[in-house]
Amino acid sequence: MTLTSLAQATYVVAAVLFVLSLAGLSKQETARRGNILGMIGMGLALAATVVLSLDRSERPVMVTALLIAMVFAIGASIGIWRARTVEMTQMPELIAMLHSFVGLAAVLVGFNSYLTEEADAVHQIEVFLGVFIGAVTFTGSIIAYLKLSARIKSNPLTLPGRNLLNLGAIVVSLGLMGWFIASNSVLPLALMTVIALALGLHLVAAIGGGDMPVVVSMLNSYSGWAAAAAGLMLSNDLLIVTGALVGSSGAILSYLMCKAMNRAFISVILGGFGTGGGAAAVDGPQGEHREVQAPEVAEMLAAARSVVIVPGYGMAVAKAQYPVADLVSKLRSAGVEVRFGVHPVAGRLPGHMNVLLAEARVPYDIVLEMDEINDDFPETDVVLVIGANDVVNPSALEDPGSPLAGMPVLEVWKARQCIVFKRSMATGYAGVQNPLFFKENSAMLFGDAKTKVEEILTSLRVGEGANA
Ligand code: TAP
Repeated sequence: MTLTSLAQATYVVAAVLFVLSLAGLSKQETARRGNILGMIGMGLALAATVVLSLDRSERPVMVTALLIAMVFAIGASIGIWRARTVEMTQMPELIAMLHSFVGLAAVLVGFNSYLTEEADAVHQIEVFLGVFIGAVTFTGSIIAYLKLSARIKSNPLTLPGRNLLNLGAIVVSLGLMGWFIASNSVLPLALMTVIALALGLHLVAAIGGGDMPVVVSMLNSYSGWAAAAAGLMLSNDLLIVTGALVGSSGAILSYLMCKAMNRAFISVILGGFGTGGGAAAVDGPQGEHREVQAPEVAEMLAAARSVVIVPGYGMAVAKAQYPVADLVSKLRSAGVEVRFGVHPVAGRLPGHMNVLLAEARVPYDIVLEMDEINDDFPETDVVLVIGANDVVNPSALEDPGSPLAGMPVLEVWKARQCIVFKRSMATGYAGVQNPLFFKENSAMLFGDAKTKVEEILTSLRVGEGANA
């Protein structure tokens, strides 16, 4: 068996491991195993790629080995440093940044392939599409990074005729592809690159804050297709398979996100939806709000029979999941029924809340999805909304002019009492005022969520007779 065929066989094993990894990641109970399988697959893939590169090297093998070792050392050091220093709340922007690298890599591979390989129509189409998808992914992900890290406002950019602009960019790019195939000149390729870079920028800039989750998963999908295109250009089967896996799983996730948010899939791909062309509203207060202190909340909890906790991005910021888990176990051991209601877009990443709760060892079976818990709020004594805002905003259901209009939300206001943990009356990510704060059965517990949950734990007296 030659080294090349050994490497190809390893690629097949790695591809199978990636499929098994994705299957494992689909359930919380098997996610850890899925991650391990993915890591083994990636390790094998890297080893096989090094072997292939050395086997096919046109330079002296030692020079190629040294170059690879240098690139490995630089990449691994940056990766280890970032992985060790990144806060959980910075993960979404880090992922957006990583997507932009995949996009940029596809553009560079495309130009390299154009400059170094024989021109035939199939190869030219591969190069053209690879550069197009890569360029859109590159700038789109940079804008997503800037929005997710709050370096630019999350409000949508609403240029006049924005849909026509997007459509025009695609039509002109198709024309440029015809010119490129006919002439094999660099000019149409370069012109298309500029257009695709602008398109990626505009597509994501046009999306409002509340609709960003779909964009994140969409860019995930685009980065997969960009990697698959790079695989075609480099004739690397594993890159094609891996790219297609990421591309299709990202597309399925985007579809599920669209369904969860009640948005049309096609309008996401075209960029800009949900806000009806208006800027996100930042209304003033909508009435009087009521404040409570931690000891009062402790009393309410001690007297409750059923409690639902709705976590949001603020829980991640405050790292409140650990005292929340302690509160849950204290209440449960006193016989109170405690469950979590998790909105599909709570936090800043798909599954963000589930990861935090699993980290704090909250049992999986009490963590329910929105559809599983929404009907139970009228029978719930106390709801604790911990650092969530947009995902519990009634204006999504009640105000057709709201940027959140149409998005299903957790209907926490239907419970007997609803306590909202946050630091101020500020709006959530979508920049929309929340009428929940002014409902009669709502009360605000101001302060850092972790500190407040700890204060509740200190005051909470549950035990014999407390829930009678
Ligand atoms: P948000 O609407 O962003 O609200 C989070 C709330 O947490 C804020 O109102 C903030 O109020 C509060 N908060 C922040 N730090 C806190 C702390 N230390 N202690 C207590 N409270 C704190 O979050 P959400 O309800 O989870 O909704 C998610 C939003 O992000 C949606 O609009 C969603 O579309 C968007 N988004 C989601 C994703 C994914 S995939 N999940 C990706 C991108 C965007 P104060 O400042 O007053 O404390």
